[in-house]
Amino acid sequence: MPAVGFGTWNLNGEEAYSAVRSAIEVGYRHFDTATIYRNEQEVGCAIADAIAAGDVTREELFVTTKVWNNSQGEGKVQEAFQASLADLGLEFVDCYMVHWPWPQRGLYVESFQALAKLQGLGQVRSVAVANFYPEVLDEIIAATGITPVINQVELHPGFSQAELRAYHRAHGIVTEAWSPLGRGEALDAPAITSVAKELGKTPAQIALRWLTQLGCSVVPKSASRSRQEENLDIFSFELSEKQMDAITALDATGGRLFKSPLEFPGELKD
Ligand SMILES: NC(=O)c1ccc[n+]([C@@H]2O[C@H](COP(=O)([O-])OP(=O)(O)OC[C@H]3O[C@@H](n4cnc5c(N)ncnc54)[C@H](OP(=O)(O)O)[C@@H]3O)[C@@H](O)[C@H]2O)c1
Repeated sequence: MPAVGFGTWNLNGEEAYSAVRSAIEVGYRHFDTATIYRNEQEVGCAIADAIAAGDVTREELFVTTKVWNNSQGEGKVQEAFQASLADLGLEFVDCYMVHWPWPQRGLYVESFQALAKLQGLGQVRSVAVANFYPEVLDEIIAATGITPVINQVELHPGFSQAELRAYHRAHGIVTEAWSPLGRGEALDAPAITSVAKELGKTPAQIALRWLTQLGCSVVPKSASRSRQEENLDIFSFELSEKQMDAITALDATGGRLFKSPLEFPGELKD
């Protein structure tokens, strides 16, 4: 799986199609979508057209989608997955994730088990989760004997998730950072802008480089071709230990942008 993927949340309709076409042209090979993004058709169409144009082959691509909360549970997961596959126009996805654990509903073990069955049928190459935390990871691993390959979680400057990353490292799970740019809001901190100036890079490149040096995969989203290129171009320089530590220290004044997975989506809400 390429460490830098392309996030597609908030990209819809024609904009989603052209963003994915352009992302493939500039070199992205890893795409992140979900049923709830309501863009699987456009993402799939852009992939199909790029393959038909000879820009890329299916085997070069790593495509992730996710089952939404209202489709958790045996039976519903399978149904949601077939709809995603049809919308994407693919014969298999490289990774399928349980989007949120939703502990109040208590269906995450059953849902992860359903993903594993789909993997057995060959329509899913790898099974993963998003927004899981150690207690629920322990539970799904103990109940199924299967360790998810990835946990995709909120992670950006100001919210570096040190404990969760350590848990992932100990269990061989890839930490994938969602909102790696803090939706653009994490980029103004002097700890980032000063390093950007020093190295002649942009704040976004510094944030993404910091994440990959922490050992994370990242899925930045951009509708702009030049920003897509910028966000992919993070492997020609390195941050020093001091620069890394200064960015990690932003945790002291940062925090989550979105709700904790312990609370979202909460009680009995579909
Ligand atoms: N599993 C989950 O629960 C979950 C939750 C949230 C997100 N995600 C995934 O993570 C992906 C990324 O997260 P995100 O979309 O929330 O936020 P993000 O990637 O951190 O930030 C995207 C925002 O930053 C701007 N941006 C992009 N590149 C930039 C650059 N080089 N310089 C300055 N600004 C830049 C974008 O604007 P432009 O488009 O105008 O460039 C957009 O407003 C999502 O698309 C989705 O695939 C997963």
